[in-house]
Amino acid sequence: MAAKKAKKTAAKKAAATRSKPRRQAQTAPLPSLDPLLASREMILVAGSGGVGKTTVAAALGLAAVQRQPGRVLVLTVDPARRLATALGIESFGNTPHRIPTEAFEEAGVTIRGELHVAMLDTKAGWDELIRRHAPDAATREAVLENPLYENITGRFVHSHDYLAMEQLHDLHATGEYDLVIVDTPPSRNALTILDAPRRMADFFGSRLLRWLTVPYRSRLFTFASKPFYQVADRVLGSRFLQDIADFFVLFQKMESGFIKRAKEVEALLVDPRTAFVVVSTLETAPAHEARFLAESLEERKMAVGAIVANRVLPADLASTEASAAARDLGERTGSDGVSDVADAVATVTGDDAATVDRVLHQMATRFDDLAMVAAREADRRKELAALATTTVSVPWLHGDIHDLNGLASLACYLRGVPDGADSKQ
Ligand SMILES: Nc1ncnc2c1ncn2[C@@H]1O[C@H](COP(=O)(O)OP(=O)(O)O)[C@@H](O)[C@H]1O
Ligand SMILES: [Mg+2]
Repeated sequence: MAAKKAKKTAAKKAAATRSKPRRQAQTAPLPSLDPLLASREMILVAGSGGVGKTTVAAALGLAAVQRQPGRVLVLTVDPARRLATALGIESFGNTPHRIPTEAFEEAGVTIRGELHVAMLDTKAGWDELIRRHAPDAATREAVLENPLYENITGRFVHSHDYLAMEQLHDLHATGEYDLVIVDTPPSRNALTILDAPRRMADFFGSRLLRWLTVPYRSRLFTFASKPFYQVADRVLGSRFLQDIADFFVLFQKMESGFIKRAKEVEALLVDPRTAFVVVSTLETAPAHEARFLAESLEERKMAVGAIVANRVLPADLASTEASAAARDLGERTGSDGVSDVADAVATVTGDDAATVDRVLHQMATRFDDLAMVAAREADRRKELAALATTTVSVPWLHGDIHDLNGLASLACYLRGVPDGADSKQ
């Protein structure tokens, strides 16, 4: 009799364990970015604004050094202040610096490699480009000292995108890093990054540049009849117009260097050592853009290494069992008096039973809304997953991710070992 009872209890226990998602995770390994991190030398993290690109780029760097020895560099673009502080990049700017081993030890994070970080500095990036491509010292100094230099280069649309890739090219070429991960700048359209090198090259052949470099006097003469130029001359002053003309005349001297370089940068994007990681949340607009981006990468023969579905709701919220349980709980709570369920929970939590009853009822009756969102997210995830060989999901982690511990939690999901995340949250 006792043996029968023990058997029954054991069967019950087994059934309970079976229904736990953790159990499923053990049988079917979760998708992991480990193979990607081990096989590529350059990774570009792209996606629409606010989806978690900067955070994922940093966490990918950490994941890489957790997994393997070697030197990994993360080039960030716009880290949130607290994350920047945690990575120590506030005062370092363009120059890569290594996160000290002690910082990982303090955070209780074990690593095997070296993690270096740098922040994209567009001013320094432009200076470097001018130094490299100026045909002689006089041109170089004249451009750098032109009073409009900073202003004009700063206004080059998408120059951030271009410079991020320029630096990727440079940093990879130094041969100092086994892997360079580049966070990409916020832009309205994630695709602009792919076109940035071509746009830079096209600018040199453009009519705009030709017009801008027509000698100043003859331009005035040519357009003298047009009121706009007369007004511009009067309002802005001929000095200003001359500075602009001078700048672009000098700029044009660097044409061949710039074009050659833009082509090299473009080639980098289709290099087999490069892969894109597309980050997206599963809301309508970012997911739509991520799809478009992944499809465009494919068309251009650029590798979609993986898709990261970030800040997702747990998929099992959408199960029929969960809905049935919520309905049950809704019916059992919320009427006059305190329900048995609330009483039982309050005994464990030590809270006021009537309050617990209200909370349970609210949660249970609103559960369907959440389940509906989770179901929609699951559909979008499926659509995205069709576009890449690897898709990983990262849940909405508690609080902002602003330190090595937060990054380590995220890294666990990227590596497909979420159990390891438990201790990091
Ligand atoms: N999985 C996540 N869980 C919780 N917060 C996240 C997660 N991923 C990113 N965040 C937070 O979202 C915000 C935006 O992330 P960020 O990486 O700066 O986005 P992007 O670079 O795409 O603009 C940050 O405050 C970050 O800490
Ligand atoms: Mg960012």
